[in-house]
Amino acid sequence: MRLGPIVAATALAMFAAACSKSETTTSGESETAPAPTAAAAPSDEEAQKLLASLPAPYNTADLSNGKSKFALCQSCHTLPEGGANMTGPNLWRIVGAEAGEGRNGFKFSEALEESHITWTPDKLDTWITKPQDMVPGTKMSFVGLKDAKDRTDVIAYVMVKTGYKPQ
Ligand code: HEC
Repeated sequence: MRLGPIVAATALAMFAAACSKSETTTSGESETAPAPTAAAAPSDEEAQKLLASLPAPYNTADLSNGKSKFALCQSCHTLPEGGANMTGPNLWRIVGAEAGEGRNGFKFSEALEESHITWTPDKLDTWITKPQDMVPGTKMSFVGLKDAKDRTDVIAYVMVKTGYKPQ
C-alpha cells in the first residue's frame, strides 16, 4: 500500500518526462507555425500570378493601392461570383461582358443598355474617369477617378477579383 504512491510518483515522473519530450516535439513544430501565414500566402501568390497575366500596363499595377481605391466603388458593387447586386451590379467577369446586360437581372439605365459597349480594361478606364461623359444618362453616379495610376490599379484589382481570363 505504501509503495503505491511511490510507484505512482515514478509513473508520474516518467509520464512528465514523456510529456516534456512531446512538448519539445510540439514546440519544434510550432517553429514552423507560420504555417497559417504561409497558407494565406498562396492566395497572394495567386493574385500576383493573375496580375502578371493581365495586359500591360495592368500587369505591373499596384494591387494594394487598387484594393484601397476600390473602397470608392464597394458601397455600390460586389466582385465575387454570385455577389449581390446593390446600387450597382455585381462585377464578376466584367471584362469581356456586354455593358448593361445580364448581371442577374440588375435594372440598368436605358443609356447603358443601349451603349453596346463590350468592356475592356481601356473602356473601364474611360468609364471610371467620368461615367457620365462616356454614357450620358447612366445612373452610375460616381464623380470619377482623376488619377490615371489609381485607375490602372483599381482596374487591375477588379480584373484579378472578378475571374479575368486572358484571351
Ligand atoms: C454610387 C454608386 C456607385 C459607385 C460609387 C460606383 N458605381 Fe459602378 N455602377 C453603378 C450603377 C448604378 C451602375 C449601372 C449604371 C447604369 O445602368 O447606367 C454601375 C455600373 C458599373 C459598370 C458597368 C456594369 C455593366 O454590367 O455594364 C462598371 C464596370 C462599374 N459600374 C464599375 C465601377 C467601378 C470600378 C467603380 C469605382 C471606381 C464604381 N463602379 C463606382 C453605381 C456605382
